[in-house]
Amino acid sequence: MRKLKLGSSEVEVSALCFGTDLIGSKTDRETSFRLLDLFCESGGTFIDTGNFYAAWLPGCKGGESETTIGLWMKERGNRHEMAIATKMGFDYPGCAGGLSAAEIERECDKSLRRLGTDRLDLYYAHRDDRETPLEETMAAFDGLIRAGKVRAIGASNLRSWRIAEANAVAAAHGWTRYVAVEQRHTYLRPRHGADFGPQVAINEDLKDYCGSRDITLIAYSALLQGAYTRQDRPVPAQYAGPDADERLEVLRDIGKESGATLNQVVIAWMRQSAPPVLPIIAGSVPGHVAENIGALKVTLSEDQILRLDSAGNPDIKKAWLR
Ligand SMILES: NC(=O)c1ccc[n+]([C@@H]2O[C@H](COP(=O)([O-])OP(=O)(O)OC[C@H]3O[C@@H](n4cnc5c(N)ncnc54)[C@H](OP(=O)(O)O)[C@@H]3O)[C@@H](O)[C@H]2O)c1
Repeated sequence: MRKLKLGSSEVEVSALCFGTDLIGSKTDRETSFRLLDLFCESGGTFIDTGNFYAAWLPGCKGGESETTIGLWMKERGNRHEMAIATKMGFDYPGCAGGLSAAEIERECDKSLRRLGTDRLDLYYAHRDDRETPLEETMAAFDGLIRAGKVRAIGASNLRSWRIAEANAVAAAHGWTRYVAVEQRHTYLRPRHGADFGPQVAINEDLKDYCGSRDITLIAYSALLQGAYTRQDRPVPAQYAGPDADERLEVLRDIGKESGATLNQVVIAWMRQSAPPVLPIIAGSVPGHVAENIGALKVTLSEDQILRLDSAGNPDIKKAWLR
């Protein structure tokens, strides 16, 4: 699997990231290890977890995912080969949440312990916190970098202008800035005003900002829980907008032409978009994960990208041709 640098940092990650929110909880340990092995054997090194995964499940208290990844890396002796991203900011048992310096420092130590490591490759603010001054948050993240506990920082579920302000604050003080942004993103576009609770979707502003400032864009919920191919997973209502049918039709056409599955076309489209978006793939079934990794073999033509981009949005076509 091809490797790339995260934004302007020196952290090298694989072209796909493996999402693990249900690892060690809904997905049992044996299956979790099997899935992690599969990703790793395919050359994958970039793993996405979070401090509170999966506190929302009955019987879980958070930390299950990090703990399982830590055990897997210990058993396989492969920590040095992996690029581990984790996050903090949401509340869960024993943690009030938010981006205060005290929470950032405390949660980082907890994540390091659970993962059985002394350094996080990427540490995200998992949500915004408008009660805490940006100076406090960015100084705390910078402190972790200087202490050698974290190699790079990222933002998840923050609006573009808040990321830009945070990075401006960091630059003014000579502190480390966010080099990666992880948001919700898929091929179907959210309906105007769609509500995703605390989650924030990639939009044109963010693409422009990240593309101009050498910040890596990373997408979660890329496959809408399998809705592109599964009868049992309807397209979420937030994506059932006026252009959804047209976009699905073009997606199916390109799937037929390219011989790729719809999930693979979505992943390939994301990777080839401008700026490129690094998809997080996830799954509890090895066959699904293998299919998603197989997307790396799919290369869409310029014409196919244009058709995918302009479906339900003919003005994009004009912009390309100008
Ligand atoms: N930063 C954030 O706020 C945030 C938010 C959400 C997620 N994330 C990260 O992103 C990761 C993925 O999130 P997500 O679960 O929402 O992603 P998703 O791509 O929308 O859904 C993944 C699920 O879709 C199904 N699936 C995947 N590939 C498939 C295939 N080829 N064929 C059929 N079904 C397929 C599987 O469901 P089953 O396993 O049920 O079969 C899989 O678990 C998480 O693990 C987490 O690391 C981050």
